[in-house]
Amino acid sequence: MLMDFTQPIKIAKHIYWVGMYLVNDPFQCHPYFIDNGNESILIDPGSMLEFDAVVKKIDIISSMNNVKYIILHHQDPDLAASVPKMEDLINRDDLLIITHSRMVPLVKHYMIKSDYYEIDKHQYRLDSNDLHLKFLTTPYCHSPGAFVTYEPSTKTLFSGDIFGGIEESWEFYAGDDYFEQAKQFHAEYMPSRDIFNYALSKIEALDINLIAPQHGSIIQREKISPLIAQMKSLECGLYIEDKYRDELLGTIEKLKEKDMALVASINENKEKEKLLFQKNKMADMGEMIGNIAHQWRQPLAINNTLISILKEKNERETLQTGELSQKLKEMEDSIQYMSQTIDDFMYFYHPNKEKITFSIAKVVEYALKIIRPILNKANIKIYFQSSNEFDIDGYVNEYTQVVVSILTNAKDILLYRKIQNAYIQIDLSETNNSTTLKISDNGGGVQEEDITRIFDPYFTTKHKSIGTGLGLYISKMIIEKNMGGVLSVENGKEGASFSISMEKADG
Ligand SMILES: [Fe+2]
Ligand SMILES: [Fe+2]
Repeated sequence: MLMDFTQPIKIAKHIYWVGMYLVNDPFQCHPYFIDNGNESILIDPGSMLEFDAVVKKIDIISSMNNVKYIILHHQDPDLAASVPKMEDLINRDDLLIITHSRMVPLVKHYMIKSDYYEIDKHQYRLDSNDLHLKFLTTPYCHSPGAFVTYEPSTKTLFSGDIFGGIEESWEFYAGDDYFEQAKQFHAEYMPSRDIFNYALSKIEALDINLIAPQHGSIIQREKISPLIAQMKSLECGLYIEDKYRDELLGTIEKLKEKDMALVASINENKEKEKLLFQKNKMADMGEMIGNIAHQWRQPLAINNTLISILKEKNERETLQTGELSQKLKEMEDSIQYMSQTIDDFMYFYHPNKEKITFSIAKVVEYALKIIRPILNKANIKIYFQSSNEFDIDGYVNEYTQVVVSILTNAKDILLYRKIQNAYIQIDLSETNNSTTLKISDNGGGVQEEDITRIFDPYFTTKHKSIGTGLGLYISKMIIEKNMGGVLSVENGKEGASFSISMEKADG
């Protein structure tokens, strides 16, 4: 269809292109006219370059005197410079310049005389007769107060500089390759992809039949969403500055490296933690064997003696009646005891991954059963009495290991410091919802400078030769991470006091 650009061109009901075809100029500027009786609207009227042509076209459709509103989507001369001359021709006291308040201090320099209708002070809309215009701000695209105008009855968007194009041979309606024409203009005019995408996302939410930009070609419905999709991934503004882009890319690269280093160091920590657990496990096994050896020494010696006696008497044939069976019974008993010792330790060191409800009093008794022979040998007294069970939920074996570990630590310090009348006091108490097991000793307490570090993973005291068992760090992990309790330490009158607080079991 051949178009006559000397005439106004109707693009939708009551909406006309009233521009001028600037021959050999790739930068076409388009004013639009909405015929709304004597409250008609002129959009982005242009500069003095097109003035005569625009006026002529408006007079064909209606008359200059019917213009009540002039919309200025931003302050640039290519759309606003002709306003004072337009005002002279329109010659109405009630003529209003519709723009954003940020634009007013700028456009007044064209020597505009009319009053302003600031969109941000009118809920971003204009209602006139049957016309209901909506204004959407598109900040910094490309002016701080830039906005676009949406006419809902025809679903037309007047988009100002957005969707503008620079075309060697200008087409009135955009073709399939319009993005190629729009690309360079947007790359240079839109400040950054993020800012531009914010404006595009607002536009994308509208139901649009036609986009009427101030430059380039008019875009019809089916071309709109593919064009927006292409626009969204356009590098523009700051990003086409080589220096800025290179610096930005450099920064992103550095951030990535830091991120990777961080991940690596976390992995390293995990590895260290694993090793620490491994080390503790080995230490536990060492301790278990040590404990078994300790408890086996006596029955082994007894059996050895009994065997020697029996051997001797047998050689001399001096065995009394019933003596053999009695000695065998004694040996059986001590072997039974040795076997029981293994069972106790195996049970204690066997990981139990199921949470159950258990009695703290029973755990303490059990832990004491394991450790008592060593405490007796070290001449350490134990004070523990409980008439209550104090039930909690958790991993019973892990909890037991922690108790044994704290008891072992106490024993170690009492021995190391050669404390007279050494004792360990165990108390159980409860509040409304928690149960606390407190293990105190008279070993002199933790050094003040160590008290904040005692649960650190690599904390060691000077006397490294003694004490194995779970480290306090692992104990804390078990109580706090695995079971949601609290393990803490404080110095009492005579020595350190460790507390394990746990939530009471339900019911
Ligand atoms: Fe502009
Ligand atoms: Fe423009």
